[in-house]
Amino acid sequence: MHYDELAVPGVRALQPYQPGMPIAELERRYGIRNAIKLASNENPLGAGHLALAAARQALADCARYPEGSGYLLCTRLATLHGVAPDAITPGNGSNDVLDMITRVFLGPGVEAVYSQHAFAVYPIAVQAVGATARVAPAHDGSRGPAYGHDLAAMRSLVGPATRVVFIANPNNPTGTWLGEKELHDFVTGLPDHVMVVIDEAYFEYVTAADYPDTTRWLADCPNLIVTRTFSKAYGLAGLRAGYSVSSPEVAQLLNRVRQPFNVNSIAQAAALAALDDVAHLESSTRLNQIGIGQLVSGFQRLDLSYIDSAGNFVVFETRGPAAECYERLLREGVIVRPIANYGMPNHLRVTVGLPEENARFLAVLEKVLV
Ligand SMILES: Cc1ncc(COP(=O)(O)O)c(C=O)c1O
Repeated sequence: MHYDELAVPGVRALQPYQPGMPIAELERRYGIRNAIKLASNENPLGAGHLALAAARQALADCARYPEGSGYLLCTRLATLHGVAPDAITPGNGSNDVLDMITRVFLGPGVEAVYSQHAFAVYPIAVQAVGATARVAPAHDGSRGPAYGHDLAAMRSLVGPATRVVFIANPNNPTGTWLGEKELHDFVTGLPDHVMVVIDEAYFEYVTAADYPDTTRWLADCPNLIVTRTFSKAYGLAGLRAGYSVSSPEVAQLLNRVRQPFNVNSIAQAAALAALDDVAHLESSTRLNQIGIGQLVSGFQRLDLSYIDSAGNFVVFETRGPAAECYERLLREGVIVRPIANYGMPNHLRVTVGLPEENARFLAVLEKVLV
């Protein structure tokens, strides 16, 4: 018996999500030490001390199930976003919410629209539930930032069978972002039967003047779902906490498929405390700005082209095939992210690290470049 044949068709054709290589695996594989990982868009400062203290305290009570509704966290997030607590849906990372959205609104016979080079979880989640993906070509650079979401192309794929449009703002891996006016026009121009998901995993990092906080649009846009996470600027990727803000009616639907205890008690406590740690968030975003500047000037000095990024990572073009450059970086103890699976075989993505990590990456890159 080949169990593959028993899997539902969408799953049979799926390739699993490829995470960045862990440091321990690289060190084992090449027998090296002091490797650095700039591959998964994590916060190089780590978690803040308030979040860590809250996590330690919550650990003492880990024999108990977590509060299933995430009451305290959701209430706090509701205040932050100026919405009712029942507009918040907690997730085991924001990926979990993306998955809930696909299970609620997608299935065989209906369609999801997203952009070429968009975040890898959208195709996986859509395919897994047997829905059809309509992938819009990204900008070629003539009418918008090259590799970025082309909203006109996305709009042209929306039809009677469309149920969900996914927009990553900014997008991973490209780092490209959409400004307030074009995004608002797009969202308000969609037919009522289409849910629009705006994935703002990197929201806290963005400094672009025209970048919108789309949670403010919810009062007028009932078909909008905004997702956020504690994995990036808040430095809690390993704990898995994210959420969506939507209309209470949509949140109620998402809650029907949500695992009862999807956000563990340690993650809930740490996320709540992280929201109070304004100083840590500010240090994290400031460090990111410095790091982006450091990486970009390094690429300019090395005469490598790169994509302007609003996130905590930058994509750059390698001179030869990116897979070879990636391997050479690995052997020097630097882990970055190949993005051939995003249709970008000549690019690599590097996450902003500590200044000394960015400097080491640039020095090693210069050494291994062909
Ligand atoms: C665009 C985007 N959305 C969502 C996520 C999911 O993050 P998490 O599940 O850790 O909240 C990521 C993580 O890399 C991302 O880049």
